[in-house]
Amino acid sequence: MKLLVINGPNLNMLGLREPDIYGKKTYNDLENHIKEVCAGQNIEVDIFQSNHEGDIVDTIQKSYYNGVDAIVINPAAYTHTSVAILDALKAVALPAVEVHLSDVRTREDFRQISYAGMACIKTYMGLGFEGYRQAILYLKDHLDGQK
Ligand code: DQA
Repeated sequence: MKLLVINGPNLNMLGLREPDIYGKKTYNDLENHIKEVCAGQNIEVDIFQSNHEGDIVDTIQKSYYNGVDAIVINPAAYTHTSVAILDALKAVALPAVEVHLSDVRTREDFRQISYAGMACIKTYMGLGFEGYRQAILYLKDHLDGQK
């Protein structure tokens, strides 16, 4: 199984960024967590982070041609604004799971809409790094069930 994990804007600032909301662990810690989970499941993983909407769209499009089987995506602030990311996910039509470190349901009104989530088969939020683990395991089960 080949997995693509996409993290959106400001997630590279983890550790420094609003630690009361996002915790004190760094983006490097998050990458290591994802790699560890994937290694334990025999999943090949590419992890991509960008602060630029178009680069995220390009990466989603490329995943179709690169043999990616599934996508875990935390679009960060673009969750609530980006129809382009929603359309890219719909275009490639790969199974995708949305993750948010924080529980966006309990936050500001402007975070209550998720465009990307409309193209995802599942969402995990408010679980911190654990949400990524659950998303990866969910997608593995999902793909195993299709065999
Ligand atoms: C986030 C939640 C978003 O609302 C916010 O803009 C982020 C991070 C999360 O992981 O909790 O940047 O996606």
